[in-house]
Amino acid sequence: MAEEQTTKVAAKAKKSQKTSPIATANDRTDDEFIRDYLKPSEGWTSWTHPLTKQNYTLGLLSPHVLSKDDFKACFDIIEFTSGEDYKSASTGWHPAMKKKEMKSPDLRYILVKDESGTVKGFTSLMPTFENHEPVLYCYEVHLLPELQGSGLGKHLMNFLITIAENIPSTKKVMLTCFISNTNGLRFYEKIGFTKDGFSPRDRVLRGGKIVRPDYVILSRETAHVELVDGEMELEDEN
Ligand SMILES: CC(C)(COP(=O)(O)OP(=O)(O)OC[C@H]1O[C@@H](n2cnc3c(N)ncnc32)[C@H](O)[C@@H]1OP(=O)(O)O)[C@@H](O)C(=O)NCCC(=O)NCCS
Repeated sequence: MAEEQTTKVAAKAKKSQKTSPIATANDRTDDEFIRDYLKPSEGWTSWTHPLTKQNYTLGLLSPHVLSKDDFKACFDIIEFTSGEDYKSASTGWHPAMKKKEMKSPDLRYILVKDESGTVKGFTSLMPTFENHEPVLYCYEVHLLPELQGSGLGKHLMNFLITIAENIPSTKKVMLTCFISNTNGLRFYEKIGFTKDGFSPRDRVLRGGKIVRPDYVILSRETAHVELVDGEMELEDEN
């Protein structure tokens, strides 16, 4: 009986995930995704560096339409900015696994290109379920040094916050950051991210040795709605 009930609950959860706003968002074409969730202001595809006055273009696209060169540029930027953090973490740096993850069909990239069309930075995001909650997961945000400290990181993360706010029921923007990436942690703290309740905790081994996780899960909550049994309910109508 208990087994039957568990199967029913699992089937219901699966059904509601299939018909959820997350599934709807993931079914959108890139143009629809931009129109319905990013809802950008005119001119959003241009960005000028406040100090160098160099112009950059921004664009949102799915992994299957990323050119080989753009994909490689994104991979190289991750390796350049964060390769050491991966190598010194318990998970290690595994290029083939990272490339596979970077091609996950539900990911969307926002690429930052210079005037020659070369990728100089990017973020990638995915509407998904984490611990049964609808969230927008930020997979990556990486800028080459010429763009760091320019306000662009915050500009890109604001796009993610807007997208999360516009996908009904989405509770938060979530991400993972290595503890060794102190600059990244300060950046996220500055833009309102805090440690998520699902972030891994210290483990105390027999003998008292404390094992600290080498990454932290951070999140920033969205403002408004909750999905209850497939129906939208406003948490706060004011
Ligand atoms: C992390 C990263 C995306 C941040 O983007 P950025 O353009 O450098 O950051 P911004 O200039 O937008 O900074 C936004 C705010 O955070 C603050 N900030 C950024 N880095 C900071 C740091 N190391 N210490 C304290 N504050 C920091 C800025 O002062 C700014 O504050 P303000 O809004 O009051 O002016 C970028 O530096 C980067 O690509 N780093 C290497 C890759 C990386 O670590 N990615 C994260 C992987 S988890």
